[in-house]
Amino acid sequence: MPFETALTKALDLRVPVVAGPLGRGSSAEFLGAMADSGSFGFTAAAHMPEETVGDELAEMSRATNGRFGANLSLTRDRRKWLAAALDAGVRVFSLWQGDIEPYVRVIKDAGGLVFWTLGSPEDAARAKDIGVDFIVSQGQEAGGHYVGSAPTMSLLPSIVDAAKGVPVVAAGGIADGRGLVAAMALGACGVWMGTRFVASKESANHRGYKERVVAARATDLVETELFDPPGQECPHRVIRNSTFSRWEAAGRQPAGQRPGEGEPISRFPNGKTLYLYDAAAAWEAMEGDWEASPLYAGTTIDLIHDVKSVAEIVGEIEATAKAALERVADLRTGR
Ligand SMILES: Cc1cc2nc3c(=O)[nH]c(=O)nc-3n(C[C@H](O)[C@H](O)[C@H](O)COP(=O)(O)O)c2cc1C
Repeated sequence: MPFETALTKALDLRVPVVAGPLGRGSSAEFLGAMADSGSFGFTAAAHMPEETVGDELAEMSRATNGRFGANLSLTRDRRKWLAAALDAGVRVFSLWQGDIEPYVRVIKDAGGLVFWTLGSPEDAARAKDIGVDFIVSQGQEAGGHYVGSAPTMSLLPSIVDAAKGVPVVAAGGIADGRGLVAAMALGACGVWMGTRFVASKESANHRGYKERVVAARATDLVETELFDPPGQECPHRVIRNSTFSRWEAAGRQPAGQRPGEGEPISRFPNGKTLYLYDAAAAWEAMEGDWEASPLYAGTTIDLIHDVKSVAEIVGEIEATAKAALERVADLRTGR
């Protein structure tokens, strides 16, 4: 099904579908599969060590023919990460959490494109003057950390109204073509999905984590700030796991008094220790207690019944979008 929107034109896409960054899940293989399917993926550059971020992004650039984007969480100074990404040839960026203005200036000077993930009409109203190319409206249903002040159904149109013509991509609570058509009816130019793509064959998220996304129900989800360091708390949605249950059973103590704090659960690829309560999502090659790490997932998990290839997921989005459009057309003609 051919779609033509501001998003498909800017990124030269066949379908207006973007995969948000999935921790270490957004590997070169995953991003390559997204590009091959006619959609687009972002990787979480802030998760990469400063010493290797340029090399890792250059490898992703080769795997995708440059058709991918880098996400920077601005919870701390990321100017070195931005410089390394630009040196590696990245020109599509997604920013959130923090003061984006200085980063937007550098990206625009380099001829790049900026997506800003936000969650309120007040921020949306500032996007045009800052020079943002695309707003990502992230509803509260989202898997992982979320900034939305409301769920997508009401947040998205309020952001479209406030955006002064800046195109808006819808994130949070979308897993198939019915969600895509609904988001477009509310004024979006495309969708930005996370949880559905965690459960893809190519994502480098841990196999056990993918199986949990498939098996869990929305009633297994919890909203918490448990997996953030003190001072950097941002609400996030996760599947209840052993760490959350243990903390809850111990009386929901604040950081510094939580059970098992300081316990090592694994090692990062660069050899650094990964401790209980760290924000890192379980990745494919992770050794140790992967289940103790945060299992980020959104309310779409009731729509996800299997681990599929990216091509199958995108094909399913197209088929279900077509059926949804036909249903709407039938309603209009009274059939
Ligand atoms: C495992 C995982 C990790 C994520 N990490 C990031 C991140 O580093 N930066 C970011 O902007 N969004 C991150 N997100 C949020 C997604 O970009 C997206 O907004 C969200 O998943 C959309 O909601 P959905 O899960 O209902 O599709 C993450 C989501 C998941 C599931």
